[in-house]
Amino acid sequence: MTAQLIDGKLIAQQVRDEVAATVAKRTAAGKMKPTLATVLIGDRPDSAAYVASKGKACQELGMGSISEHLPANATQEEAEALVKRLNADKTVSGILVQLPMPSHLDEERVLSLINIEKDVDGFSPLNIGRLAQKGREPLFVPCTPYGCIYLLEKSGVKIEGANAVVLGRSNIVGLPAALLLIGKNATVTVCHSRTKDLAATVRQADIIIAAIGKTEMVRGDWIKPGAAVIDVGINAVPDATKKSGQRLVGDVNFAEAKEVAGFITPVPGGVGPMTIAMLMKNTLCAAEIQDP
Ligand code: GUN
Repeated sequence: MTAQLIDGKLIAQQVRDEVAATVAKRTAAGKMKPTLATVLIGDRPDSAAYVASKGKACQELGMGSISEHLPANATQEEAEALVKRLNADKTVSGILVQLPMPSHLDEERVLSLINIEKDVDGFSPLNIGRLAQKGREPLFVPCTPYGCIYLLEKSGVKIEGANAVVLGRSNIVGLPAALLLIGKNATVTVCHSRTKDLAATVRQADIIIAAIGKTEMVRGDWIKPGAAVIDVGINAVPDATKKSGQRLVGDVNFAEAKEVAGFITPVPGGVGPMTIAMLMKNTLCAAEIQDP
């Protein structure tokens, strides 16, 4: 193995410890307790598991958490009324509406209603617009891309001037990751399902952020020697040796990539733990904005 392993679990724990220490100081000073309200609409088991782990993290860090659940057949009006109620609730610092929502709902409209000071996911058009524009600052950066950049910076990877290739252009990861990298003066290429000669494009990259949701698609011979590889993928593959009958792998073929890359995140234990850590950081930041 030539690559240095980027230990997301360890770095996420450091972020969580810092957040918990600041939360304790704020609470002792009688300031607003950082409190996250999660909104789950419908019954997707993966979404239910994600919101449960976000609530658990709040408790572990001394923060408050409120979990709201609407049925899969909730109306647009019900979803909007809930966001408006949480906007008005002075005990709520941050609001997170778990995505995807059921397809009959207008996601853009629901997200656009979240008060920008409570938009801890950074998905409101106002926050994304500020992230996209030069000289403007979002109040909150979307948690997974924020975690990716944090891992690169903590590992000492130079972003300025680097050729960065982002695989995937989703609203949740690929697009905001590309915007963040541009903001840090990387030269950024965003690849997607219509990109011609993906392998040749990825081979130019000093930094690769893989967020395409395709099991081990990025092969070792796609990677420039010494490149930093951040693997956002979480894909389940059958594994008879595991009790659950499956194991998780990324969008990058780790066994091949670790022999070529300079830095690499494992799956699990890389980007995954960072998402919740950055959400906790954003929720603390929301409380600091609302009650400095
Ligand atoms: N679904 C998958 N990732 C995320 C995330 O970071 N935030 C929200 N709200 N939904 C998601």
